[in-house]
Amino acid sequence: MNLEFEEAQTPGAQKRLINGSSVDVNQLMPLKYKWAWEHYLNGCANHWMPTEVPMARDIEIWRSSTLSANERLVIMRNLGFFATAESLVGNNLVLSIFKQITNAECRQYLLRQAFEEAVHTHAFLYIVESLGLNEREVFGMYHDIPAIARKDDFEMKLTSALLDPNFSTETPEGIQTFLKNLIGYYVIMEGIFFYSGFVMMLSFHRRNLMTGVGEQFQYILRDETIHLNFGIDLINGIKAENPDVWTPTFKQHISELIKEAVELEIAYAQDCLPQGILGLNAEAFRHYVQHIADRRLERIGLPALYHASHPFPWMSETMDLSKEKNFFETRVTEYKSAATLQWD
Ligand SMILES: [Fe+2]
Ligand SMILES: [Fe+2]
Repeated sequence: MNLEFEEAQTPGAQKRLINGSSVDVNQLMPLKYKWAWEHYLNGCANHWMPTEVPMARDIEIWRSSTLSANERLVIMRNLGFFATAESLVGNNLVLSIFKQITNAECRQYLLRQAFEEAVHTHAFLYIVESLGLNEREVFGMYHDIPAIARKDDFEMKLTSALLDPNFSTETPEGIQTFLKNLIGYYVIMEGIFFYSGFVMMLSFHRRNLMTGVGEQFQYILRDETIHLNFGIDLINGIKAENPDVWTPTFKQHISELIKEAVELEIAYAQDCLPQGILGLNAEAFRHYVQHIADRRLERIGLPALYHASHPFPWMSETMDLSKEKNFFETRVTEYKSAATLQWD
């Protein structure tokens, strides 16, 4: 049986991740990319709302003298970074990625992810209001704090390339530009730029401090893990359908892009931790950022660059939320347990 004939006989076989104009994008079934549907179901199994998380203890600690000035700086910087980074991801998804994806099951996931990004932005508004923080200060840090502005500028450049009304993925260069955007957001923003913040914020939760904020970060981390997994499947899927664009020169270019992002993230960690706090210092973050960058590189088929050790082994345990005592018992609404989720 020749391949073309076989394709024509397999329901949904003509579907393509991009440039799939021969199949109506409104027709979900039959599914071709089962992984996209699986990620959609995993996202739904993880449903949560920020306002379900009690903040009374956090408010008490924030108003007391429990936290040092350095600890407050770490918390403020991370709230400032995430408060707008979530919007950047959501806007890029809706304005740049969604239009180019020609597959119904992937679009179904993107709609779910876009809602989750809105929930994450909501979480930062809820935290700012609960703790009585200066909203202008937190939501303005992406302008005012250079280490945050540089990470966001790096991402926004990748968005602007796709906002050109003439942009299309019909040429190999167009596909490369689109892959750069996907790698910039899924692998770098959600897979590298978010992770120093996760470690810093969850380190407080681990010490039984700011547990309401920490619980929301755990939920966000769990969502982001699925976003990253979907993004990697999408990137690898587009590579497999368009092998010509994954050239040695382009691979080198992506490695350079990730190297640049690693330096931005190390500078961000230094800015958050000028003197270090309990168990955390800028040097440890250099190793951590390099370690996770290597894991991300490998998952998109590129060689590791740094071979650094993982300085925060407790993070893997923190990520396994099913081990969290009373994690679901405190919830107002019963959602499906996410115990079956896979972590990378
Ligand atoms: Fe998010
Ligand atoms: Fe995300």
